Amino acid sequence: MEADAAWLPPEVFRPLGSRRVLVRGTGPLVDTVAAEVADACRRHGGAVLSGAPDDADLVLEADGGSGEGYTLARRDGTTTVTAEGDRGLLHGLFHVVRLGEDAFRGDRAPEEHRPALALRMLDHWDNVAVHPVMGQVERGYAGGSLFWADGRARDGLDRVRAYARLIAACGVNAVAVNNVNVHATEARLLTDRIGEVARLADTLRPYGIRTHLSVTFAAPVVLGGLETADPLDARVRAWWAEATARVYAAIPDFGGYVVKADSEGQPGPFAYGRTHADGANALAGALAPHGGTVHWRAFVYDHRQDWRDRSTDRARAAHDHFVPLDGAFAPNAVLQVKHGPMDFQVREPVSPLIGAMPRTRLAIEVQATQEYTGQQRHVCWLGPMWSEVLRFRPDGERAAGRLADALVAVSNAGDDPFWTGHPLAQANLYTFGRLAWDPGAEPGAVLDEWIALTHPGAPARLAEGLHAVLDSSWHTYEKYTAPLGVGFMVQPGHHYGPGVDGYEYSPWGTYHFADRDGVGVDRGAARGTGFAAQYAEPWATVYESPDTCPDELLLFFHHVPYGHVLRSGKTVIQHIYDTHFEGVAEAEEARRVWAGLAGLVAPARHARVADLFEEQVRCAREWRDQVNSYFLRKSGVPDERGRTVY
Ligand code: GCU
Repeated sequence: MEADAAWLPPEVFRPLGSRRVLVRGTGPLVDTVAAEVADACRRHGGAVLSGAPDDADLVLEADGGSGEGYTLARRDGTTTVTAEGDRGLLHGLFHVVRLGEDAFRGDRAPEEHRPALALRMLDHWDNVAVHPVMGQVERGYAGGSLFWADGRARDGLDRVRAYARLIAACGVNAVAVNNVNVHATEARLLTDRIGEVARLADTLRPYGIRTHLSVTFAAPVVLGGLETADPLDARVRAWWAEATARVYAAIPDFGGYVVKADSEGQPGPFAYGRTHADGANALAGALAPHGGTVHWRAFVYDHRQDWRDRSTDRARAAHDHFVPLDGAFAPNAVLQVKHGPMDFQVREPVSPLIGAMPRTRLAIEVQATQEYTGQQRHVCWLGPMWSEVLRFRPDGERAAGRLADALVAVSNAGDDPFWTGHPLAQANLYTFGRLAWDPGAEPGAVLDEWIALTHPGAPARLAEGLHAVLDSSWHTYEKYTAPLGVGFMVQPGHHYGPGVDGYEYSPWGTYHFADRDGVGVDRGAARGTGFAAQYAEPWATVYESPDTCPDELLLFFHHVPYGHVLRSGKTVIQHIYDTHFEGVAEAEEARRVWAGLAGLVAPARHARVADLFEEQVRCAREWRDQVNSYFLRKSGVPDERGRTVY
């Protein structure tokens, strides 16, 4: 099957492609824009103009700059996009596509558009060689890698080009092409296999996507033959400088490195008694002369914990490790922080590291790949979750302060014909790009865009159905899985499906501490790990007490008796029962709504989603039954509504 057109079916180019269009400017991306326009006009009967713009319906014009901004206006029957440079022109083109016929109606006062975050990146956890446990794509639910097959970069890169086009159309401008866990084969992409990365970069570049590479901190040892990777050792620094110069010789606009160090077994500066700032700065120093950046991940914690030890708290780790280093990182080092303090759970508070390092450049990392949110077999549109994260004000003052410099998502795309396994998971990829461009955007409006582009000319009934299925799908997923922010309760290893005690006695620091009396983790300062005190006010106070802590995060911050009454007025145990019954009912209802959309959606797409709904409902029931019977057995408290708990 040919790859799905996703949000760029040819039809969405009709309004533009049936007009008289002039493209002006210089720069490689102007050629891309001109080719897009020519293709659209050929298909839809428009005309590509040259020379004087008098009779143009649309003028797309780029100044010689490098900015990504553009101004959109319409006067006297001509729509104009005046861009700061060729990169802005590409974004402007896709803006016109999104507007459809509206781009050519009435007058439009000049509007300036500029991305709020300069770097909008997708990290691919793709392996070059198939990993014996993790496979081709670590936590990948969309088939194989777009980039790598049979142990090397793919020969045919048409799909990579199509991917670049799709992600550029929603605002993404960078991609990291390999897994943050850098295994032996992948380590060599930095050196003797850089040519393969260069081919990918050549394919991504015409759509304004810069290429980044995950590298191992131990590269000077494993690739360079040095006996140390100590970041303060002059030979190590020289090695990084030379290796990096060779990378830039192959890829002149290379974006930089992504590094997972001292994390889940990856090597790092701790082995040499150095700090993470020392480590990041060694690589930043090598990249600086070339304009590159190192993305240094803050996902550093003790993964060899003992569940009996209630003082060690994985949630604290990033803040404990990194806040003392604020101000010590090089200007071209970006600390990449997961949005929550744990690990992409369905509900977590925003990481207290965000906002706590004013002198450090920060990237927020979210997970489009649905490792803990249904693995692209369940519908779970994450727009509302990401929007909450991006709107959170660490200092409590809305609209004040800087949240981050970059937004990064672990990509959910692979070589699956629908790109993302579940066709509706395309909405996550699209929404990520649009929120990275404008973190204040209304997720519902972004979903409207996605629906309109993906299903041009769709009847209102289809749009309504898609909203009904997607709008609250995150809350539905939350209802039938781990309750009240407690997290995990998944099957170990692959992380799919329920396993209430799956990670309860493991070394990963992932506990809910359920016993016969209660459940949850005490993270307050008064009687817990002190994690809540890592927040600035008012959050430290809000989270400290079960009386003020938001219900949805209660068990993240507090161990409470089953009879504890939530702010909603329900007891914790009754909330667990009720939400698990509701979550399944909502999944069943979504399945019913989807069935009613047959005939309005392409048959292959409809069938794929319908099949996946069978699995979602099956799995949701399994979650409901396992969680409810677990807590019935632990607590001995029956469901006050007398429903059968299996
Ligand atoms: C999660 C995930 C791993 C991944 C890690 C990371 O723990 O399960 O597969 O490597 O996050 O973000 O580095």
